[in-house]
Amino acid sequence: MEHWILGEKAFNVEKLRHAETIFTIGNGYLSTRGVFEEGLAGEERTTFLHGVFDAAPVVFTELANAPDWLDLQLWLNGERFNLGEGDLLAYERHLDMQNALLTRRLTWRSPNGLTCELLFERFASLAQPHQLFQRVQVKPLNGAVTLQAQASLSSEADNNGLKHWHHLKQHAGSEQAWLLCRTRESGVELAAGFNLMVEAKTAVKIAGWNVQGRPTLAVDCQAAAGETVTIEKQAVIYTNRDTADPLQSMLKTLASPARWAEAWPAHQAAWQAEWLRSDVMIEGDAEAQLAVRFSLYHLLIAAPRQDDRVSIGAKTLSGLGYRGHVFWDTETFMLPFFTYNRPEVARNLLSYRWHTLPGARRKAARNGYQGAQFAWESAATGDEVTPTWVPHFADSTRLVRIWTGDIEIHISADVAYAVLQYWRATGDDVFMLDRGAEIVLETAAFWASRVEWVEDLKRYEISDIIGPDEYHDHVDNNAYTNYLVRWHLQQAIGLVDWLAEHAPERLKELGQNLDLSSAALAGWQKAADLIYCPFDPQTGIIEQFDGFFERQEVDLAALEPRDISVQALFGIDETCATQVLKQPDVLMLLYMLPDLLGPEVLRANYNYYTPRTDHTFGSSLGPSIQAVMACQMGDVAEAYDHFMRAARADLRDVRGNAGDGIHGASAGGLWQAVVFGFAGLRLTEAGPQVSPRLPAGWKRVAFTINWRGQELKFEVMPNEPQA
Ligand code: BGC
Repeated sequence: MEHWILGEKAFNVEKLRHAETIFTIGNGYLSTRGVFEEGLAGEERTTFLHGVFDAAPVVFTELANAPDWLDLQLWLNGERFNLGEGDLLAYERHLDMQNALLTRRLTWRSPNGLTCELLFERFASLAQPHQLFQRVQVKPLNGAVTLQAQASLSSEADNNGLKHWHHLKQHAGSEQAWLLCRTRESGVELAAGFNLMVEAKTAVKIAGWNVQGRPTLAVDCQAAAGETVTIEKQAVIYTNRDTADPLQSMLKTLASPARWAEAWPAHQAAWQAEWLRSDVMIEGDAEAQLAVRFSLYHLLIAAPRQDDRVSIGAKTLSGLGYRGHVFWDTETFMLPFFTYNRPEVARNLLSYRWHTLPGARRKAARNGYQGAQFAWESAATGDEVTPTWVPHFADSTRLVRIWTGDIEIHISADVAYAVLQYWRATGDDVFMLDRGAEIVLETAAFWASRVEWVEDLKRYEISDIIGPDEYHDHVDNNAYTNYLVRWHLQQAIGLVDWLAEHAPERLKELGQNLDLSSAALAGWQKAADLIYCPFDPQTGIIEQFDGFFERQEVDLAALEPRDISVQALFGIDETCATQVLKQPDVLMLLYMLPDLLGPEVLRANYNYYTPRTDHTFGSSLGPSIQAVMACQMGDVAEAYDHFMRAARADLRDVRGNAGDGIHGASAGGLWQAVVFGFAGLRLTEAGPQVSPRLPAGWKRVAFTINWRGQELKFEVMPNEPQA
């Protein structure tokens, strides 16, 4: 069990939301934050199901918080157990990441002096994703207890006060309780039910209370001092996204009550299989080992295995942050882990983009362009759902205009890049023909119509955009975007040639909805040939965007010590006027296209942009990629500092916002930092190669890569590559 356990030794109400996020459990169908069964003031109690979005003001749409399957109130000799009262004599909480099991063990003295040991456990079955299990053991220590437990389901679940559910039906008998509800606007029907099983030495009474809107089961029993009462709950959830009749499916599953002991082995076996393929072992660095497993755990509990119409939001399913919206974070940062480890999950995630092409076409058309333009923030339909105005982070009486939904356009190339990377890694021609090609070509058509011809300079440009570095907006010729657009157009032209040779019928079909005439393709070629890609041959430096070099220089070291971002310190417009980067666009570009310009150019840009980046408090997406780049520069100690920044992002709540949910991109980036950075894996046409640059103290790194259908196991020792 070494380095599999995330533990909490004391209860700290100040860190409540942070702990809820990191102790989230899930199974790729849903996730539930690490809230307490009995509730607590200030908690953020959420269960999110992939794809269950509903309309919301300002943010357009958000994941609707589902009825809470965890609720369990305990009354001990008439006193309600809760951590806000009485005394906590002992407390510990454990997330066993190997088995995705959350445990809380405590000793509580009630205000009237009854002392009890309580053990709470829960898991969301990976083997049967609609089934959720919870168990509590109560043992009075200093006297007999009359115990009443009440468990209920309620359609009053809300998102920060906004209610999404219409109550439709409910039932509470002595065997089970359930309810059926429907989201207000999107019409998702959800059926949730549960039963209780109690083990006690004395007689047990279970009664159903049909409280309106809150079907409840109540248990009454007794225990003498030293005796344990065990209450098990099995909850089941289905929606009409999974099945035509969610109520019937839910009732059917609930009718053959699975006990914890029966469900546990299958769940455990499913996780064992999961880790066999996905684990990354790091010997010699306990903190790094735990952090990498923590990141992979959170990616795995968010990974949709059964559904190809959903994707993983920037905050996974673990919090209200970004409302479940999907960004480039998925394709660029999280997807490589899946592509090279769990290609079937990667295929689902990319299929989500294919299913949302209609929304992307609408966005392109609305803006006057051809093809498909992916939304900066995307949800159920693929239509743009970035909020236009949000309250200022420091002064909520002021509104800030958010431009990313209008002009952060690189995501269309990022998605195409991910499709092509997946195809290269898997050789999955079927996916490419059915779905991938359409994504790559439609987005290429968007670019061909988006680039702007500048007659004086006889070149194409892209003006008024935002690159990945969001400290700078309304810039012209963002290098990351322009270079990637050129690459994307070249790849798309190559893909058309490939289709013409291997699947002419499919090419014809694609040509029915998209102009793939030779004139159109000549236009793509011209755009690829003539798009302006900034580069100074003298210095080797790529200017991040037009005029970047003229922006004000800032000595970041002189701002230390600080615990806020440069943008929070200086202000939004003031930071935009400087050369300080939220994340380094040019290095990101050179990471994605490593053969573009050679090692000297990489070094020149690394030296130039590294000291200009707000590494600790800028974007959480930056440090892991910066770690890979530092490895490539041979600066392993520096790489390790960046790696640790990513490793601690959520575990230590570096930015103070981990309570909003896991930074999924940072989690995915951490995997890339180990595999592509420290292990130095390169996937070449001649096959995979590693050139290790392990940090001091690392004795061994082991991981698995799926390359063109084969599982390759790597064991990397300092300066001793072995495949
Ligand atoms: C980052 C973006 C990212 C978004 C969602 C922003 O702060 O700058 O690159 O896509 O967060 O994680």
